[in-house]
Amino acid sequence: MNLILLGPPGAGKGTQAQRLEESRRLVQLSTGDMLRAAVASGSEIGRLAKSIIEAGKLVPDDVMVEMIEQRIDAPDCADGFILDGFPRTVAQAEALDELLRLKGKRLHAVVEMAVDDGVLVERISGRFSCAACGAGYHRRFRPTAVEGVCDRCGATEFRQRPDDNEETVRTRLAAYHAQTEPLLPYYRGRGVLRTVDGMAAIDDVTAQIGTVLAALATD
Ligand code: AP5
Ligand code: MG
Repeated sequence: MNLILLGPPGAGKGTQAQRLEESRRLVQLSTGDMLRAAVASGSEIGRLAKSIIEAGKLVPDDVMVEMIEQRIDAPDCADGFILDGFPRTVAQAEALDELLRLKGKRLHAVVEMAVDDGVLVERISGRFSCAACGAGYHRRFRPTAVEGVCDRCGATEFRQRPDDNEETVRTRLAAYHAQTEPLLPYYRGRGVLRTVDGMAAIDDVTAQIGTVLAALATD
């Protein structure tokens, strides 16, 4: 099954993608994570992307499409993938349609995680992740079971993203409304858009996505 999780910064795309990865044989493809790895490695793409990410703007479409094109062909994606953070513009969505057509793959659903702008700054400013395995947490909404120890791998070092500050979040939110929101009518028109209430608690959102996926299986 091939899915897109669509929603503003802090909507919970990464949180739910990690859960889907664990509960189903799907691979999370987070373009944000790929870009952050490129920045950390000091590659050409990383050098180009660093200042754009820190400003909260979007990396050019051609760079992103090439990144995804290489990734969805990898053997681990054979049983399905979850796109998290891609596509983010109509041009990226059109390129994805073409890529999937050429590779004989299908998009089963686009799950919109609807969240009001008001809660996003709090969600993002409380976020941290395990420096070793990348598991995501939140100081208030999803703390580790034992303070300072990752639930998943037991590591004790955590990190925060440099773009997770209030000013950058506002720019990221503006980019979402201007450039990414037009994907909602785009996918609605193709009959694949499903919406869940991203304001609900994390476990509730997981359950809503489960219901959406169960309905797809019987379609
Ligand atoms: P990216 O990494 O994709 O960031 P984003 O879209 O801004 O989304 P986030 O990762 O901030 O939020 P999320 O929805 O994953 O939320 P999370 O689950 O962590 O992109 C970063 C940058 O890279 C972009 O700004 C851009 O520059 C560039 N980029 C990436 N892809 C690109 C593309 N395709 N084209 C161009 N540029 C691109 O949850 C947030 C927090 O809230 C967590 O702490 C979590 O524990 C908590 N939480 C989650 N769900 C809930 C809930 N239901 N209730 C309470 N708390 C919750
Ligand atoms: Mg994310």
